[in-house]
Amino acid sequence: MNTLKTLVCALTLGAATMVATAPAQAAGDAAAGKAFYEKVYSGNNYAQSAGVNAVGCVSCHQTNPKQNTRHIKTGNESGPMAASAGWRDPDTNQPRYADSQKTEKWFKRNCNGVLGRECTAQEKDDFIAYMKSQ
Ligand code: HEC
Repeated sequence: MNTLKTLVCALTLGAATMVATAPAQAAGDAAAGKAFYEKVYSGNNYAQSAGVNAVGCVSCHQTNPKQNTRHIKTGNESGPMAASAGWRDPDTNQPRYADSQKTEKWFKRNCNGVLGRECTAQEKDDFIAYMKSQ
């Protein structure tokens, strides 16, 4: 019996060690990304500039991210955010989130406009996980 206990214990320890040493992954959480995407904030820069009460990512990118982005202030349209929509940037022919410089540039601009700060790495991972699940 003691031998069995020792064995189980050793196995459990082994499993714990494996989990602890697994390489860190960009583990975005699609559900958290959806909640983040749909939240609107009042009084931010974008709301003030567009003359509306509250603005969130959904305001330009649409509640259904398979629909075209439509800028709340200018009305300019560009492609959907959902990866499944298959939209490609007309200038670079890159699909969404393939051009990390572009993605980072827009995160920086839009997070500042909506949240008044840059998004955290987790918020970005969650956002992209949600868009890739759509
Ligand atoms: C005022 C309008 C507006 C709001 C609000 C907005 N965005 Fe955007 N966003 C844009 C536009 C316009 C683009 C450029 C679309 C294009 O042509 O690729 C863009 C592009 C992006 C991209 C680049 C995607 C790629 O192709 O790699 C990301 C990421 C992004 N937005 C994240 C966000 C997040 C996160 C929020 C909310 C915190 C947000 N946006 C809110 C207008 C907005």
